Amino acid sequence: MKTFLIIGAMEEEILPLVSEGGFEHREDRLFPYYYGAQGDTQLIVTVSKIGKVAMAACVQHFITLMECSPAFSEHHIDLIINMGVAGAIASSLNQGDIVVGDKLCQHDMDVMGLGYEIGLNPDYNSVFFETPKTVVDMVKKAYEGLDTDYTLVTGTIASGDQFISSKEKKEFIENTFHAYACEMEGASLAQVCSDNEIPFLVIRAISDKADGDAPLSYGEFKTAAIRNLTTLVKEVIKQ
Ligand code: ADE
Repeated sequence: MKTFLIIGAMEEEILPLVSEGGFEHREDRLFPYYYGAQGDTQLIVTVSKIGKVAMAACVQHFITLMECSPAFSEHHIDLIINMGVAGAIASSLNQGDIVVGDKLCQHDMDVMGLGYEIGLNPDYNSVFFETPKTVVDMVKKAYEGLDTDYTLVTGTIASGDQFISSKEKKEFIENTFHAYACEMEGASLAQVCSDNEIPFLVIRAISDKADGDAPLSYGEFKTAAIRNLTTLVKEVIKQ
């Protein structure tokens, strides 16, 4: 049996996945979670809260818990997934489209004052954390098996502790990191997973275009975007 840990920053990003039943809600000191199986995959589904710090704390909490707690002695995490919404940076993307992050970076990491490249944390040797190719291919295969009216693309996702809603910030992220989408957690999950040598996947549905209309668009499209994403993630789990 495989074990996937699935994390959304907000409750609404994971609720559609667990709402069909078969999940037990378990208390936890920091991150209550849903526990249930789909086919031969054990799922642990939880909410980190918004931002890179919250996501890093959540990922490390579960990795350590699952290594140390007798309640999880049967489980070894095979994959950690972050699912949720994102703002589009690439102009080809529309609300409802899905971006699979093949590379993750932090657009607000800036140690240039000490001579380092923008986006580089000097404790690491690259601006980008790369998703295992097998994981990206697994998502593409799942998408091909679905009848959809949205586009799936693979590309860089840039994370930062900012909701992007201005032309200047959006252009900075596009020109500096060539990102397809921006959000607020994925790269921190990627960093913690890399430190722990655990495969990860950051997969996001577009709710807005990270521009002046983003606050309105986000409210209008997030539910539909999450619906597309939930169907795809369920298909990934099935495979
Ligand atoms: N999540 C969804 N839209 C976003 C945006 N525009 N900026 C950051 N995170 C987001």
